[in-house]
Amino acid sequence: MPEREDGAQDFETRQIHAGAIVDAQTRSRVTPIYQTAGYVFSDFDDGEDRFAGRSAFRAYSRNENPTNAVAGQRLANLEGGVDGIVVSSGQAAIAATLFALAQAGDHILATRSLYEGTREMFRGALRRQGLDVEYVADDADEAEWASRVTPRTKAIYTETIPNPLGQVVDLERLAGIAHRAGVPLVVDSTVATPYLCRPIEWGADIVIHSTSKWLAGHGAVIGGAVIDGGRFDWRANAERFPHLVEPPRAGAESYVDRFGAAAFLGYLRTVTVLEYGPTVPPTSTFLLLHGVETLSVRMDRHVDTSLAVAEWLTEQPAVAAVAYPGLSDSVFYERAQKYLPRGAGAVVSIDLAGGREAARRFIDALELISPMTHIGDVRTLAIHLGSTIHAKLTEEERLDAGITPGLVRLSIGLESLRDIRADLERGLRAAG
Ligand SMILES: Cc1ncc(COP(=O)(O)O)c(C=O)c1O
Repeated sequence: MPEREDGAQDFETRQIHAGAIVDAQTRSRVTPIYQTAGYVFSDFDDGEDRFAGRSAFRAYSRNENPTNAVAGQRLANLEGGVDGIVVSSGQAAIAATLFALAQAGDHILATRSLYEGTREMFRGALRRQGLDVEYVADDADEAEWASRVTPRTKAIYTETIPNPLGQVVDLERLAGIAHRAGVPLVVDSTVATPYLCRPIEWGADIVIHSTSKWLAGHGAVIGGAVIDGGRFDWRANAERFPHLVEPPRAGAESYVDRFGAAAFLGYLRTVTVLEYGPTVPPTSTFLLLHGVETLSVRMDRHVDTSLAVAEWLTEQPAVAAVAYPGLSDSVFYERAQKYLPRGAGAVVSIDLAGGREAARRFIDALELISPMTHIGDVRTLAIHLGSTIHAKLTEEERLDAGITPGLVRLSIGLESLRDIRADLERGLRAAG
């Protein structure tokens, strides 16, 4: 008798096979790169059907491309969602999601610790477009969260493992707060990847990824993804989301009627992505798919090495503090055990005791580790945050965000632990 009769497949199998199609004509095993702008209509009526969304075939690659569709399906499967789409970058995924939920005059609540590029978008482009983002400490009590919700609030936004300090959020609690407020919980889960944490299982409604990081995994492509958990009740919150619940024009179906549980993703694909056009090239998606096929294997190694590096760093006199939620003395350890039982990711940040000048000496002494902006590469990367990603902030704003003068973010790669440690040792010796 086969060991498995439930028809289900394990994550390791689905990361290779979910969503894959075998091209009818060539029987190509690997998903081909469908490098085409558009698709030939078989006749007049077919053209009309494709535009009306009545056909299983596509019209134009701006929002629908077969290579990209495989990746969208695969990531939706891995996250436990009902539908997904890949777009041109993580930033594009965040922007498209918020544009699909909110409009000028609307309001988003967000936890404070977020990737600085996201915070920059929130106070820059989104604010200029009339979207107001308000920050709340993720540990604030429910009354505090509830007091910030207005009729114009359209989402609560957070990150599973915030980049760069890893203050793991309590997803289950935030999902409850969001749902009682009548808004979806949107989670950027880039640093966790669906292998380490699946936010939808904890109640999240929409999951975002920068696929440029561990999902693609090799530092070669930029991309993003949005996955719809399919459980948010848009109809019950129709006054907040009339664009999803009411027919877009006389005689047309509403998005909830047309796409059912995948109403949000249907709207995102056929309106937001179609209108704004954040298209990812299928050549990039081809590389993303190859990365995803080995995700579990790479992540196991990334987290093992990261924990060993983080533990070793805590013993180094030049290091004043190590931020890694997998460390047993981290204040986020318990939460990491709950939400990230397979490991707490591969971002390890260190505060060098000698401040900015020590960080300069550390970065300049590295030989193996690449000083650059990016995370989630097979290569180990290092960056001094105060002089780069957080340079536009005032000193006070930096300190408020926990970005101390000596803070260096490491993205731990897949080189041998011995070699990574040897290079860090070189850097720390120089840092003094
Ligand atoms: C957590 C997180 N979200 C989103 C992004 C943006 O992704 P991308 O660089 O693909 O636009 C990044 C980039 O570093 C990130 O770390």
